[in-house]
Amino acid sequence: MTNNPIYCAIDTSSIDKAVKIINEISPYVGGIKLGLEFFSSCGIEGVEKVAEHKLPLFLDFKLYDIPNTVKKSLKNILSYNPTYTTLHVSGGSRMLKECVDLKKELNSNTNLIGVTMLTSFDDDSINEIGISGTVNDNVNNLSVLALDCGMDGIVCSPMEIKKIKKTFGSKLKVIVPGIRNQTDNNDDQKRTLSAKKAIEFGADIIVVGRPITSAEAPGKAAEIFHQSIK
Ligand code: C5P
Repeated sequence: MTNNPIYCAIDTSSIDKAVKIINEISPYVGGIKLGLEFFSSCGIEGVEKVAEHKLPLFLDFKLYDIPNTVKKSLKNILSYNPTYTTLHVSGGSRMLKECVDLKKELNSNTNLIGVTMLTSFDDDSINEIGISGTVNDNVNNLSVLALDCGMDGIVCSPMEIKKIKKTFGSKLKVIVPGIRNQTDNNDDQKRTLSAKKAIEFGADIIVVGRPITSAEAPGKAAEIFHQSIK
């Protein structure tokens, strides 16, 4: 186990590319996050191949469906023993509680992390899909629900870390994507911050994807991120 809070998002459809990047970055990251792009192409075999690297795994499938479907999918996911996995908090209390009960039943150590608002949303784009109020208010309300249901942590943007930590302290782990250092492209992330500031504000885990995986030398890019938070 490592204390390095950097999880690299390996968002690729190619297992060979994933393995190449992981080999280069493994000394500088605390874990590997695999999401839907990787899984929908490389499948469970890809997950097993990445698990061979013995780095902590974050399986980020952002489950959102009826409680029965989510619970049965989560059971499969927990069998891979990831350190973190994600569920949408907006799936509601029954879905979340059934998942928390399942984790207890299986004696699993996996941290169940609630996705509050995707970091690609801003106030205008949440209103567009019928959600009223600000991103900030919604992140707060969904975090209260996640805690009440017994979840271990939440995902939020760098902009919400301070407020979430002030309200919930160590009761909720805070996982933060949308990390960009000054010279990085923001891509589709609307609420970004540097790795150093995110850690200073209280992030427990920071997720860094394209600034590392799209760099000419991913190993060097990961090393720079690692140095920046020391
Ligand atoms: O490439 P980039 O650094 O933007 O990658 C961020 C990663 O974090 C992606 O894998 C994305 O799916 C994930 N993520 C996010 N916002 C959330 C939850 C997860 O960007 N709210």
